[in-house]
Amino acid sequence: MINFKSIKSICCIGAGYVGGPTMAVIADKCPNIIVHVVDINQERIDSWNNLDLSKLPVFEPGLADVISRVRNKNLFFSTKVAEFISKSELVFISVNTPTKKYGIGAGKASDISSLEECTRQVAKNASGHTIVVEKSTIPVKTAAAVKAILETSQNDNDLNKTFSVLSNPEFLAEGTAIKDLENPDRILIGGDDDDAINLLKDIYLNWVDKNKIITTNLWSSELSKLASNAFLAQRISSINSFSALCEETGANIDELKRAVGSDKRIGEYFLNAGPGFGGSCFQKDILNLTYLSEHFGLPEVAEYWEQVININNWQQYRIYKTVLNKLFGTLSNKKISIFGFAFKADTNDTRESPAIKICKYLLDESASIVIHDPRVNESNIDIDLNEYIKLKYSKWEVSSDYELAAKDSDGIIILTEWDIYKKIDWFKIEGLMRKPAWVFDTRKIIDPYVIKQTSLNFWQIGYGIN
Ligand code: NAD
Ligand code: UDX
Repeated sequence: MINFKSIKSICCIGAGYVGGPTMAVIADKCPNIIVHVVDINQERIDSWNNLDLSKLPVFEPGLADVISRVRNKNLFFSTKVAEFISKSELVFISVNTPTKKYGIGAGKASDISSLEECTRQVAKNASGHTIVVEKSTIPVKTAAAVKAILETSQNDNDLNKTFSVLSNPEFLAEGTAIKDLENPDRILIGGDDDDAINLLKDIYLNWVDKNKIITTNLWSSELSKLASNAFLAQRISSINSFSALCEETGANIDELKRAVGSDKRIGEYFLNAGPGFGGSCFQKDILNLTYLSEHFGLPEVAEYWEQVININNWQQYRIYKTVLNKLFGTLSNKKISIFGFAFKADTNDTRESPAIKICKYLLDESASIVIHDPRVNESNIDIDLNEYIKLKYSKWEVSSDYELAAKDSDGIIILTEWDIYKKIDWFKIEGLMRKPAWVFDTRKIIDPYVIKQTSLNFWQIGYGIN
């Protein structure tokens, strides 16, 4: 049973996009708590410990400042998973839960094998009472498996192991992670052990208003995370479906967004048309939702949510088709410049980035592409495109300078809304490109009035006079 009045030591398993920033903020806000972030990936841990803060494995505005305040004071990164599990009162599990690639549920269900592996590690190495917190996004009912594994070790030996299991999903968005963590809309804690819930709540109360902390049963908490991501992704597919209708009818997506979003019941946020949602969460979590719905005998629910993904895929396909049509139906011997490879601005993450699919379509058409992104490493792009390239014998390269990338290009496609692209001197770019040249703005970051003063042809998403 719980024999401590407050949490003094935390271990977080998983030093990724969630574990690293989340624990950094907890350490910053709770100077009396010692936080150890552990991971099996030595290279990642070395990067978190790099003295050069520009080399942290995750790029997030504000993250380096937080790390510089707390690292090696009350925040530590290491690979000593077993050691810090045993020394901690509370263990967050924040490992990746990607879409399963094999067996039953392949391509849809979440692969929770890493989470199970961590649970077994906790079962083996914990001592005394340990509060185990699911931070990863997981299928509803996962806590039942976590409890079952932990319970087998309770009578192990003389260590008096006992456990409480809580669900505490993370809602941060990449690119705004520090802001989201420091000022969250809500904190969700699911569980059936009031003492454990209150101890976790006390951690957040160091900086979060009590009215923002929602407590529920385990299953509501687990399912709410999937539901939140599904609702958000659905808004993007909804606005993207209207972007296509705008282009056909002469309506303008910005005007439509304003008209629709001013209704308080709908709200103005998350209504930006674009190349479709990317990122490690939306697609994975909706696929998982559809799998679960089928599993629970609700195929209509599965079909409903599947459509959100179908529209997302179609949006990327139709952008590629638009580029092809505008460039006279052939991309052979043409150079296309890709501005932005990250799935959104202010992150170096490329997981499920719309750029990957769109680049593959273009390469399939025999285009030569030059990719520029201010934060994404070439090695990442290599991983995202390489296997495909080997199969298709196509050409792509990376440029660290977007003006060089634009030189002799037939078309520029803006795929990520990085600030630097908002400040481009289009008169200069005009002089660099091969004519007739096109600019495709899938993020609506260019003022059409400015670009139309050049000789460049211009297409913008949801802009009805394309
Ligand atoms: P990530 O891939 O960036 O990091 C996961 C880390 O876990 C990796 O460094 C990996 O080496 C480590 N790991 C895997 N198995 C391990 C093991 N057995 N022992 C120790 N370490 C292990 O993933 P992420 O983006 O941080 O996501 C983590 C979870 O949070 C996922 O379930 C995800 O769905 C969820 N989530 C992600 C975001 C986001 O924006 N990325 C937001 C909310 C929730
Ligand atoms: C998302 C959720 O927002 C977050 O709450 C959850 O914890 C993890 O998943 P993330 O994927 O990091 O966060 O970023 P988000 O800002 O949601 O963007 C996801 C994708 O949707 C990006 O590709 C983004 O460009 C796109 N998007 C977002 C749009 O196309 N239009 C919008 O209006 C908003």
